[in-house]
Amino acid sequence: MKVFSGSSNKPLAKKIAQSLKADFSPLEIFVFPDGERRVRVEEKVVDEKVVAVQSTNIPADTNYMELFFIVDALKRSGASIVDAVIPYLGYQRQDHIFRDGEAVSLEVIIETLEAVGVDRIITVDLHSVKIPELFRIPIIHLSALELFAEEIKKLSGENFAAPGANNLKSLILNHKSSFTLVSPDMGGIRRIKILSELLDNTPWATIEKNRDLVTGSVTADKIEGSDVDGKNVIIVDDMISTGKTIVTACDLLEKRGARDIYVFATHAVFSKEAPEILQNSRAKEIFVTDSIFVPEEKHFRKLRILSIDNLIAENLKS
Ligand code: R5P
Repeated sequence: MKVFSGSSNKPLAKKIAQSLKADFSPLEIFVFPDGERRVRVEEKVVDEKVVAVQSTNIPADTNYMELFFIVDALKRSGASIVDAVIPYLGYQRQDHIFRDGEAVSLEVIIETLEAVGVDRIITVDLHSVKIPELFRIPIIHLSALELFAEEIKKLSGENFAAPGANNLKSLILNHKSSFTLVSPDMGGIRRIKILSELLDNTPWATIEKNRDLVTGSVTADKIEGSDVDGKNVIIVDDMISTGKTIVTACDLLEKRGARDIYVFATHAVFSKEAPEILQNSRAKEIFVTDSIFVPEEKHFRKLRILSIDNLIAENLKS
């Protein structure tokens, strides 16, 4: 098996290739002065099963176009099967019409992926579990929740931190069963229930969030479910984009008496000023995965990055 990568997340693509003990194959991706791209496969792929890795985060349009060209080049070069690993599927939040007159952008993307010849999609933590139904080609929808549960459990081991250290390790060490899982919006209930089960039925609650569809502003004033007063809290979400959801959730949780707040989110979309907003938020640590490559300039002190390379590699073997 050969693994090819677009420009958006080469570090993850390399790790996936290593986990698979597969060749990480170079691609020529040339950007013309006008911004157009030329993609060329540099080695033989005739009758081979190949993997193309590309996250379609910012700049989503460029990353999608690059992926379309990579798949086209692989197919024209004779690859028999092209698995597209799209750890973060851009445009997934535009999966239906919210207001009259809108495009369903995700359907356009899906039709194009199918048209260029993708045989199978492998992706992670989609915004809605209904999205796979929109595809006519097979799709493997993976989740980082087990990785999050393992991380939370691992951190609760006996030997990992000096008591009193100001981080999640000490939180779990010192308050083993006194944390509550919180979804920052109603859309995350399924996710939070699964994580709760993975963590021996840890109590959970969910926030009622409202987002203004025109301005994007986020408000929240209601929490349903287990009490958070006096509890340490772990917020779980699928993605962090502007950071407004997390900051609003942290503020409300603090008002309702929550103690230390930690965040686990799969996709570090990190648009605009998100890193600064998150660093200045009430959250103590923010765990994300490498589904999206986070460049050095977007790193901040509270950020922790977990890798989903093995999760993806294991599922590519089938
Ligand atoms: C929304 O329903 C999602 O689950 C995320 O909460 C949201 O997309 C995060 O966006 P932002 O960071 O811009 O608030």
